[in-house]
Amino acid sequence: MHRVLVVGATGELGTHAVDGLLTRGSELAVAGRDPARLASLAARTGCPAFPIDAYDLDGCAGAAPRAAAALGGLDGVLVAVGVPAFGTADSTPDAVAEHLMTVNALCPMAVLRGAIPVVRDGGFLAAITGAIVGAPLTGTADYAASKSALSCWLAVVSREVRRRDVHVVDARLPHMATGFASRAVSGSPPRLPPAADPAAEMAALLDRLLGHLSSPRRQPNR
Ligand SMILES: NC(=O)c1ccc[n+]([C@@H]2O[C@H](COP(=O)([O-])OP(=O)(O)OC[C@H]3O[C@@H](n4cnc5c(N)ncnc54)[C@H](OP(=O)(O)O)[C@@H]3O)[C@@H](O)[C@H]2O)c1
Repeated sequence: MHRVLVVGATGELGTHAVDGLLTRGSELAVAGRDPARLASLAARTGCPAFPIDAYDLDGCAGAAPRAAAALGGLDGVLVAVGVPAFGTADSTPDAVAEHLMTVNALCPMAVLRGAIPVVRDGGFLAAITGAIVGAPLTGTADYAASKSALSCWLAVVSREVRRRDVHVVDARLPHMATGFASRAVSGSPPRLPPAADPAAEMAALLDRLLGHLSSPRRQPNR
């Protein structure tokens, strides 16, 4: 049975991840910000649950060690924390830019930084960035920059943990029908492509993550 921490489990995609992983037989710990949603998720699933806030980076870094202690080890971590904001760069307040960097980049980085020493060899470290990293739209400069910062960080970490066969996943998922864009802290979204089905996208991501656990590559000669 795989032991996985889902961070941002209180969100739409996080909840898809929780339900999909439980269906696939994983043992989970969950972390989220909204206290009522987190308590309800814990009550529904029986999973150990930890509060997390992007503005407490030490707390973010502590999530994986807490999960590993609760589950008796950790095979993988999936971060689905994020917040959008829209508008041209010159109309975006610095406070909004700082918020995007904190929630979309620094928080996932702190969670996964804390997970590196506790995830088992052959495990996975994953975060949902977005297709926007490869194709940033006008009116999304600060959002796209925060996701690209996380994506770049993941690429470097991937090389740093390769010898342990830890699979680092930069999940560049497309725009999906979760209502995410409507929760923007500032501005209105530009014209977006047709929304993909979040259930199908998350099912494919979970199969990819668990597939790595089931068939790790051969250990290199050391
Ligand atoms: N939906 C899409 O079209 C799409 C496409 C590509 C990538 N993504 C990425 O997928 C991730 C999840 O998106 P979603 O659609 O599931 O959105 P969502 O339902 O709004 O979920 C956002 C998650 O981020 C958490 N969060 C927000 N601000 C936080 C803060 N200050 N501290 C800690 N946690 C915070 C929320 O926690 P609470 O609910 O507990 O407040 C929630 O768990 C995001 O990173 C998003 O960028 C989404």
